[in-house]
Amino acid sequence: MKFFIDTANLAQIKEAQALGVLDGVTTNPSLMAKEGIRGDEAVKKHYVDICNLVPGGDISAEVISTDFDGMVREGEALAALHPQIVVKIPMIKDGVKALKYFSERGIKTNCTLVFSAGQALLAAKAGATYVSPFIGRLDDVSYDGVQLIEQIVHIYDNYGYKTEVLAASIRHAMHIIRCAEVGADVATCPLSAITDLLKHPLTDIGLAKFLADAKGQ
Ligand code: G3P
Repeated sequence: MKFFIDTANLAQIKEAQALGVLDGVTTNPSLMAKEGIRGDEAVKKHYVDICNLVPGGDISAEVISTDFDGMVREGEALAALHPQIVVKIPMIKDGVKALKYFSERGIKTNCTLVFSAGQALLAAKAGATYVSPFIGRLDDVSYDGVQLIEQIVHIYDNYGYKTEVLAASIRHAMHIIRCAEVGADVATCPLSAITDLLKHPLTDIGLAKFLADAKGQ
């Protein structure tokens, strides 16, 4: 399972990278705004900074156009910034066309704002590199987000689609475990969900005992 971090915060990206388990980064316009990154040039520079922090990782950069021509223009400019950029495209009609356009040109894509198996099927048929079902937001409205991941994994397996299932909108460590159980290819997580995987009281108790015994106490 690949681990991506879902943030535009450089300090958190550095921390996850230092842990040695990071495979990429996802961002979105809300995460950029949260870091105070605004304006075309500042946003582009920030994407390049993120790419340089995670060598070889896939870094999702989202278009904000909603028409085909705009998405293509923006996506091509984003892809030209750095070889690690993955163009993030919303699951709308023109987005499906843009996914196909980029897929035919060998440019990686991440289809975002996916909330149903039908949307995921369209993304795969259009050749998306990644599909991003938002599991936390589904849980928020009483739908089972992990069940959707399981359904998409099953459908993709039926037909051998190469599109990778990227579980997004992850809120906590248990989401990561459940997504791993049902076969998500990637989890994009807040840093806290990744570091919470470390935690177990028996580890802390056991280590304290080992250290005490080593000192002969
Ligand atoms: O990047 C997309 C997704 O992970 C957003 O998560 O927490 O805003 O639902 P959230």
